[in-house]
This record gives sequence, structure tokens and C-alpha cells, in this order.
Amino acid sequence: MQNFWNDLKNPSFLLAPMEDVTDTAFREIVLHLSNPQYLQVLYTEFTNTDGLCHPIGRDKVKSRLQVNPSERKLLKEKGVKLVAQIWGNNPEKFYEATKYIDENYDFDGIDINMGCPVKKVVKQGSCSALIKFPDLAGEIIQATKEATQLPVSVKTRTGFTQHITKAWIGFLLTQKPAAIILHTRTQKMQTDFPAEWEEMTKALEARDESDSTIPLIGNGDVFSVKEALDLQKKYPIDGFMIGRGIFQNPWFFNPDFTPTIKDKLDTLIEHSRLYVQTWGPERNFQVLKRFFKIYINDFNGAAALRAELMDTNELIEVENVIDSFKKTHRI
Ligand SMILES: Cc1cc2nc3c(=O)[nH]c(=O)nc-3n(C[C@H](O)[C@H](O)[C@H](O)COP(=O)(O)O)c2cc1C
Repeated sequence: MQNFWNDLKNPSFLLAPMEDVTDTAFREIVLHLSNPQYLQVLYTEFTNTDGLCHPIGRDKVKSRLQVNPSERKLLKEKGVKLVAQIWGNNPEKFYEATKYIDENYDFDGIDINMGCPVKKVVKQGSCSALIKFPDLAGEIIQATKEATQLPVSVKTRTGFTQHITKAWIGFLLTQKPAAIILHTRTQKMQTDFPAEWEEMTKALEARDESDSTIPLIGNGDVFSVKEALDLQKKYPIDGFMIGRGIFQNPWFFNPDFTPTIKDKLDTLIEHSRLYVQTWGPERNFQVLKRFFKIYINDFNGAAALRAELMDTNELIEVENVIDSFKKTHRI
């Protein structure tokens, strides 16, 4: 199996895993809007390994790994890779869950979440809590690698209560993941403080000292391709993972394109239809509403239109609101 990480262009651009955001419907929309020059890798939402190991739990979490045929087609056409991200705290469960994914799905890679700072998961010793337990983190990486030929990457932070970037990245490199994605905040910083990119220098030093060529991808507060390119001059990493930047601009990965109001309205409708068609009653319509503000902004009447959209409860209402806005504004 090919390790695509070593073949990515430099710098590469990745869309971050985001729960209740990067489902198959939104990923397909992002694929539509992006220039493949500026988008190389997409991630699923994080999926619990314990859940994947039990038939009942699996039913509850499997939507996170769903890939619509229409998304698959676009991935292929645009040459974009798709990585499944998993989380947990037990190496055996990582092994079993990875085998299950390997045998039942068609992903290009597996990523281990060692970064999520949320209390609920940290309490269980999962995600960013693993930074405090490198032995266990190492066992998890090895168990996951044993279960698959797919490249296994790790997404992590610079420390738990304080930055221990050089020691932690130095340790991860000894485990030989296919790539390391480093969010330049500690667990304690959550997302309440600005990302501290100077930490990247320490990660790069750790890589140099270990004589490794494992790709190092940076993450945290990057809100345009230009910002990423400027950061790369200072921190010569291999790529950038973008999270909330996509909320500010769904066309993030198409920096030379300026969407018209019509583009924004049409994309909202396309996304809403795809969401409802994909999930029906399985996912709450209210979750879709968080996307309305990402399309409806920066034009006359946007605030009032957003308010009207927030009162909708089904697709037909969204379609009617947008239709009438278009008629009134001759769009
Ligand atoms: C709504 C939301 C959901 C997220 N879910 C995940 C997740 O499932 N897995 C993960 O590794 N990180 C998750 N993150 C963290 C992002 O992947 C990313 O590391 C973080 O937002 C920092 O990048 P940014 O400053 O570009 O947003 C989530 C972030 C947000 C805002």
C-alpha cells in the first residue's frame, strides 16, 4: 500500500477533522469549491475505537465514516486523499478498530487523535491525555500500524499543561508514524489562546536531530493560503491543516476565486440538499444551521437573511427563503 504522505506537494493543504462539520456532505461541498492545487487531504470526524469494536456501538458511530459515492467520485477526479481519524485509549481496540476499517472501507490513511482537549475524552485518558502517557501512546501507534498497510499518522498538540514540543515530537518520531500533524497549542490552551507557532521551530529541531523525513504538518489559526505561505517562510514544514478557516471562507482552498452572492446562495442550497439527502432524520437539521453563516455573509442583507434562515426547520423552508431573497434582489 502506498504511503501517500511522501508524495504530497509542498506545502500541502489539509482540511482538519471537525466533529459535526466534516461529514461526507460537507467534504463533498469543499471538494466542489476547491482548487486541487490547494487541497490534498480531507479527514473524517473522529470515530471512537471502542464503538467500532462492538456491533451496537458500531451502528452509533459508523455515520462518521460514511463516504457517499458522489464524494468518492470527486475525490478520485481531484486526486484528493481521505483519512479516517480514530480515538480511544486501548491499543487492542485500536488494532481491532483499524482492522475493521481496513476490511470494510476504502480510506487512504488512518489518523490517531492525540490532540482533542475536551474534558470528557481527556478524563478517559484518550486524545490529548495520551501526551502524558508516551508509553501507551507508543503502544497505540504500534498496534494501529500492525493492523493495516495504510499509512498511520498522528494529530497532536504541543503538550498537556505546558509545551513539551521537542520531547514529545522527538518521542513520536521514534514511533515512525507516516506523518505528524501538530496543532501549536497545549491541551490547557484549548482554542482560547492564539496558536503559538514558535513551537514549530522546536518540532523541526526534533525532526532534524532524529534524522527523520517524516512529514510535519502545522495547524492552528491559519485563515488564508497567503498566511500559510508566509508561515512556511519562517517554519519550513511540509503542509498546513485548516480547521476554522473554512468557516470564514468555504472557498479557502481556492484562493484565486471570489464567490458572488449567487455562488454563496447556490452553495448553501446544494449543501442543505446533500445534507438532508445523506442523513434524513438520522442527523438533526439544527446541526446544518451552523453552516448558514459560513455562506451568508459579506453582502447587503446578509444579516437579515441569516436571521430568517435560522428560523427554518426543514429543507423546503430553506429553499423558499433563498428563492424569495433571490427574487427580491434580482439574483
Ligand atoms: C467544531 C470542531 C470540531 C472538531 N473536531 C475535531 C475532531 O473530530 N478531531 C480532531 O482531531 N480535531 C478536531 N477539532 C480540532 C481541529 O481539527 C483543529 O485542530 C483546531 O480547530 C485548530 O485548527 P484551526 O485553528 O485551523 O481551527 C475540531 C475543531 C472544531 C472547531
